[in-house]
Amino acid sequence: MCGIYGYVGEPTNLASDILCALKTLEYRGYDSWGVALGVNGHLEVRKSAGKIGDATLSLPTSGIGFGHTRWATHGGVTDANAHPHLDCTGRFAVIHNGIVENFRSLRAELELQGHHFRSETDSEVIAHLLEERSKQEGRISPATFGQVIDRLQGLSAIIAIDNETRTMFAAKNVSPLVLGAGPDGSTIASDAIALHGKAELIHHLEDGQVAEIHGGSVRLWDLASMREIAPTWRKLPDRSFDTGLAGHPDFMSKEMAEQPDVLERLARTANGEISAMAHAIQESYGTFLVGCGTASYAALTGSYLFSRIAKRHVNFVVGSEFKYHEHFLTNRSLVIALSQSGETADIIEAMLAARARGARLGAILNAEQSTLDRMVDLCIPLRAGPEQCVLSTKAYTAKVATLIMLAHEVAGQPDLGRKLVLDAASALRSLLTRAWIGRIQAIAEMTRAATSMFIIGRGLSYPTALEAALKIKEVSYIHAEGFAGGELKHGVIALVEPGTPCIVYAPEDESRRDIISGAMELKARRGFIVGIGSRNDPAFDVFVEVPDVGDAAPLVQALPAQMLGYHSALIRGNDPDKPRNLAKSVTVK
Ligand code: F6R
Repeated sequence: MCGIYGYVGEPTNLASDILCALKTLEYRGYDSWGVALGVNGHLEVRKSAGKIGDATLSLPTSGIGFGHTRWATHGGVTDANAHPHLDCTGRFAVIHNGIVENFRSLRAELELQGHHFRSETDSEVIAHLLEERSKQEGRISPATFGQVIDRLQGLSAIIAIDNETRTMFAAKNVSPLVLGAGPDGSTIASDAIALHGKAELIHHLEDGQVAEIHGGSVRLWDLASMREIAPTWRKLPDRSFDTGLAGHPDFMSKEMAEQPDVLERLARTANGEISAMAHAIQESYGTFLVGCGTASYAALTGSYLFSRIAKRHVNFVVGSEFKYHEHFLTNRSLVIALSQSGETADIIEAMLAARARGARLGAILNAEQSTLDRMVDLCIPLRAGPEQCVLSTKAYTAKVATLIMLAHEVAGQPDLGRKLVLDAASALRSLLTRAWIGRIQAIAEMTRAATSMFIIGRGLSYPTALEAALKIKEVSYIHAEGFAGGELKHGVIALVEPGTPCIVYAPEDESRRDIISGAMELKARRGFIVGIGSRNDPAFDVFVEVPDVGDAAPLVQALPAQMLGYHSALIRGNDPDKPRNLAKSVTVK
């Protein structure tokens, strides 16, 4: 994961610019951060474990430097393991997003050559590899930089400074890097969002390209031919959405509250894109929905929706498992990735594998201009606005709403699909009242001593139960597990003790009678039963009412679990926007 940002140009208060840019990239990882600046002929490095928070740096102005915000993969969360990493001489500094999969053998080779390592990271090998090449050749050229990058296995985005020539080099393999050109100089970052205020034009670096940034201008090289190529500059997109808190205490509460607007916007704007995707599904011989984490539960919901609404089998595969399922893909298959960020490494890898087998690629995606957006043949944009809380809330409901409309479009009932989504949006708006939220807060209080929680649903509510468990556990740190209601008696019920909170999704569909039986079985073991539905039942100890919106039920069912996770987190003193050990954009495998 990790966020990276660099600048070469007119001398400026660069340390503070870098910290500012890194804060916009902290969604990519926030366990430690670091900065390197070229100052008076040497590299000044500052790095620290922990979030950037209110950190300030008092460093002289500089015209070359970069910074990194880390999500640890190799090596613990320590100051020493924070990036940048230097070579033995202090001439080269490196920041890196990704994993150098063959770092052990490279490190062993470099240690034999006498290199001294200061961190436990995989990334540090890159600085020493550059040093080794400079011993042989003196100057590091784009070609030599490219040859060093060629030795690295795995998905990576790398920026290096050669302090001797005051040159920055950058290259990538799948992980994103965006170059920026502005009036004062050139910039580069993991995400164009960090370039606002610094760049007017951007170029998305492609795999196999090396960028050389010197004196504020960018030169680009094709690694295979080592021919200079022209960047394809395009205008940096405006920030069309409000990225502030808009009066909310944190992004999680803001983004939960935005859901009715997001769903309404989607139902009103996505018609053309939905009919194009529906057409592609109808033409395909096998459609696969692929996603990770929350997006995978949206995808699983999709497979139920297509079955019940469009009477069509649509396969569902978790992104990281896709490569074990890809063997039967053909050039008539359609693989649709669901993603908020469009940068999830497991998804990008799955899509590359699908493309290699000739499949058509689609996406249901929030982040426009992301890697996924640029690689697919057709896309339904969620237009949910930036999701800044690490937990996915509005992007999840937007994905499910898209699938509801898509399944109805395939079934020849597009108006019904849109109506269901609009009804669910109004229902969510009616829930977002002080009184209803207060009820969830009260349940968070009642369950404050819980160490474990179980969530059950059947049919369309089964993926909802899985997503509810993820939402609760990742922010409250309560062990929460979702199950298909019918599976309880096959083992899980052994875990239920007197007082164990058990959340039961009981919508007005064919699953209700059976799920109430499951609730009774849990109650017989003295579990504390929280029912969610439009009708109360004697099986429930506590009831959370949500309107009956038919096949759009997953949309209204999501909110109680999001809210319960949120309030349980606040009770425990957890940061709802940046839970421990997580990152928003999972760009490593
Ligand atoms: C959970 C969460 C993650 C993401 C997953 C995929 O709240 O946010 O499980 O859903 O990492 O991310 P995207 O949708 O960006 O591909």
